[in-house]
Amino acid sequence: MTHSPTPSATGLDTEALRRRALAALLTARERTTLLTDSVDDHELTAQHSPLMSPLVWDLAHIGNQEELWLLRGVAGREAMRPEIDGLYDAFEHPRASRPSLPLLPPAEARSYAAEVRGRALDILDSTALTGGRPLVDAGFAFGMIAQHEQQHDETMLITHQLRSGPAVLTAPEPPRPTDAASLPAEVLVTGGPFTMGTSTEPWALDNERPAHVRDVPAFLIDTTPVTCGAYERFIEDGGYTERRWWAPEGWAMVREHELTAPLFWHRDAGQWLRRRFGVTEPVPADEPVLHVSWYEADAYARWAGRRLPTEVEWEKAARHDPGSGRSRRYPWGDEDPTADRANLGQRHLRPAQAGAYAAGESPLGVRQLIGDVWEWTSSDFLPYPGFAAFPYREYSEVFFGPDHKVLRGGSFAVDAVACRGTFRNWDLPVRRQIFAGFRTARDL
Ligand code: AVJ
Ligand code: FE
Repeated sequence: MTHSPTPSATGLDTEALRRRALAALLTARERTTLLTDSVDDHELTAQHSPLMSPLVWDLAHIGNQEELWLLRGVAGREAMRPEIDGLYDAFEHPRASRPSLPLLPPAEARSYAAEVRGRALDILDSTALTGGRPLVDAGFAFGMIAQHEQQHDETMLITHQLRSGPAVLTAPEPPRPTDAASLPAEVLVTGGPFTMGTSTEPWALDNERPAHVRDVPAFLIDTTPVTCGAYERFIEDGGYTERRWWAPEGWAMVREHELTAPLFWHRDAGQWLRRRFGVTEPVPADEPVLHVSWYEADAYARWAGRRLPTEVEWEKAARHDPGSGRSRRYPWGDEDPTADRANLGQRHLRPAQAGAYAAGESPLGVRQLIGDVWEWTSSDFLPYPGFAAFPYREYSEVFFGPDHKVLRGGSFAVDAVACRGTFRNWDLPVRRQIFAGFRTARDL
């Protein structure tokens, strides 16, 4: 019999966490395999965009991080191939320079990742997940590595979106909303205290910790993310030609790159079209807008007479239960995501229409907070009071500060293991290739 030393938000004992870690690692590898087996070796080693690594770099980096944290970190093993560590250290080599490195060729990258995985599963099987080592307790390192692989699966899906050529990935259409027409445009979140972050979620990453109380004045927030149709009205109204809607750096970006629409959109015979995973199609008016930078989201909100929500407002809208006053793991409660609650895990290769996923709504009726599109918030990426870097400074700490804006809620491209009500993502405000959209808010 094993006992978890701290009460866990999942209510799972360590054996259940072990099974969950195994399942999460297997799910991640299935996706990694699909994303890397669906293109030939030439495309695996090519750089499809200077913004991204070759897919073969992600593959070996996934294996290398797993070796570093599970084989060496948890089990104290020697390095399998110490000479490759530097190649797969994201901080030593920026993405643009990775194709020129002596990377493992596809077959070797595959066998390295598979060999690491075999050993990691033995370690998962034979290691007590209690005993006071924070890296091991409750299976943290295993959960962290499953999340890491899923984060790179999202990164690799971005690379697939940026590649040219015919489609290689397919997926069923997401569910359609059933009651979207009757939804209010916005929802009131009353003022008062809210517990942000977590101290109990077993696999929460360092930047989500610790739980702390924040006072949040009342605000109104959109029921759904902003749609392509609404965004088109901003464009038609001169959104990209009028300086007054833009932050100065955003206006400079619009002028320098002559932006007129979200990334992957173009106009043809009076109609907006977009390219999505190798297929050109009309922009769907009712779908949440994707591939906009923070600056575009910020400009749209100003044009609409509104603003982006702050990060704490977003999390309160997603987690606050006004009945009990406590914070939930997800908008719908504490249970894990299911296919009827959220569009996650690359199950579909696009967001669902605005208003879908009624079963995933928050107690106040806010929809699609989890899954579909990452949502830009107005907030800089900053540590919570009491933050401690764990297990390495380069996950979060080196990114704190005014350069990065926080995104929340996850996209259709991220798996449930790497997405929850407390999960924090961040990026530069100019980034457009990520699966990001937004919703707007206003003061009461
Ligand atoms: C949290 C998504 C910003 O992809 O840069 C992957 C996640 N960190 N490997 C990223 C991450 C190290 C990170 N983001
Ligand atoms: Fe990584």
